[in-house]
Amino acid sequence: MTNQIKTIGVIGSGQMGSGIAQVCAAAGFKVWLYDIAHEQLQKAHKNIERSLEKLAEKKKITTEQLHQTVLRLNITSEIKDLKEFDFCIEAVTENAGLKAKIFKQLDETTPPETILASNTSSIPILEIAQVTKRPDKVIGMHFMNPVPLMECIEVICGETTSAETLATTLDLAKKMGKTPVTVKDSPGFVVNRILAPMLNEAVWCLEKGLSSKEDIDLAMKLSCNFPMGPLTLADFIGLDTCLFILEVMHRDLKDDKFKPCPLLKKYVEEGKLGRKTGEGFFKYLVR
Ligand SMILES: NC(=O)c1ccc[n+]([C@@H]2O[C@H](COP(=O)([O-])OP(=O)(O)OC[C@H]3O[C@@H](n4cnc5c(N)ncnc54)[C@H](O)[C@@H]3O)[C@@H](O)[C@H]2O)c1
Repeated sequence: MTNQIKTIGVIGSGQMGSGIAQVCAAAGFKVWLYDIAHEQLQKAHKNIERSLEKLAEKKKITTEQLHQTVLRLNITSEIKDLKEFDFCIEAVTENAGLKAKIFKQLDETTPPETILASNTSSIPILEIAQVTKRPDKVIGMHFMNPVPLMECIEVICGETTSAETLATTLDLAKKMGKTPVTVKDSPGFVVNRILAPMLNEAVWCLEKGLSSKEDIDLAMKLSCNFPMGPLTLADFIGLDTCLFILEVMHRDLKDDKFKPCPLLKKYVEEGKLGRKTGEGFFKYLVR
């Protein structure tokens, strides 16, 4: 159970990995954040510090908690450091081949009892679990973006995931101050099965010229009481991630309602991935 968990490895330091590392460190765990890109790791460390400073300014955490959280956080771009974690959370790019490679590496380097969780948005957990020699200890832990602020974690058991792995993961999610919701292992799970087609439809509305990007967002914000419009939300998620999610669901569920809009593909091909690259449907300041 989680009282045996002291050290957590987080693989991938993009928007999700950095947020996950922050909440794990804030919950009292020693964290190692790994990424292949050294520059991205430095950026992630700065973003975590900035996020903690904001929380301290808003008096949601004390200055002492801020310092202690930063002290528990380590970064590495050395693959050899991927060992001796009690629990691992993978948050690399949404690509099945890449995730399979990472899970094979984690299976070889971490102790056999370590639970390996994936933050995948859409790829079935069974598919990931099958590349390891410990499919009973592989589980889905789908955090929401931005991780420090969003309360829900979708927890997904593959056919091979054990009851003990599920119990430990649910307990860990609660220790992070989150509310876990258990869902079945199916492409896109529940949240993205509902959300991704809606975001895709907003892109279709733009492609068909039904309204301007600003007005599509404004209409949905004011009509559905959404905190932000769907095109802004797609930019926040990352247009590459939105495309990967739709492609997985379209391929695996064999339903054209998940077919990505060509305009979404065009943005990704042009490298306009949303907030993380400074431009998607809208423009952003990159930090
Ligand atoms: N963006 C969202 O809103 C959101 C929400 C929930 C889940 N997710 C999922 O989280 C995962 C990451 O998404 P993100 O938005 O953080 O993407 P991102 O593009 O911000 O970050 C991906 C990170 O993976 C790293 N990476 C790539 N190859 C690697 C390798 N071989 N070894 C180590 N690191 C490697 C990249 O350097 C990058 O830092 C995806 O599976 C995505 O589907 C995303």
